[in-house]
Amino acid sequence: MRYLAIAAAVMAILAGVIFSTAGKKMMQAGDGAATEVVLPEPNSAATGLFKQYCSQCHGLPALDTHTAEDWPRAVERMVTNMASSGKQMPDANERRAITMYLVKHAKQ
Ligand code: HEC
Repeated sequence: MRYLAIAAAVMAILAGVIFSTAGKKMMQAGDGAATEVVLPEPNSAATGLFKQYCSQCHGLPALDTHTAEDWPRAVERMVTNMASSGKQMPDANERRAITMYLVKHAKQ
């Protein structure tokens, strides 16, 4: 019986931790529009290009949402999105600069 009580207490604590973490994550997601993504190298040309082109349709994505391997593919897909919706498109050099910036600061 005592073991059961201890097990129940441990479960309750774990559930509390999980819920409070999930709650915080949800608040962040809900605040998305108001919360600025923290950008490394804020004054670099690549950061400027990223801000200019990648905020035309949605808020700037956090850099650690993709790995270095995944970012180039994601950018290609976004360029397709831009082409099909008539948004301002980065030229080849700008695209390379944005991709390199994202890759450099990608999720480890
Ligand atoms: C023409 C509008 C448009 C522009 C400009 C745009 N996106 Fe997107 N983005 C979308 C749409 C629509 C989605 C959701 C559907 C999808 O994933 O294609 C999306 C989803 C995303 C996602 C979440 C999906 C995923 O693959 O993780 C990321 C990250 C993203 N965009 C990054 C970028 C980056 C980086 C740029 C700049 C290079 C950019 N976007 C520019 C339209 C755009």
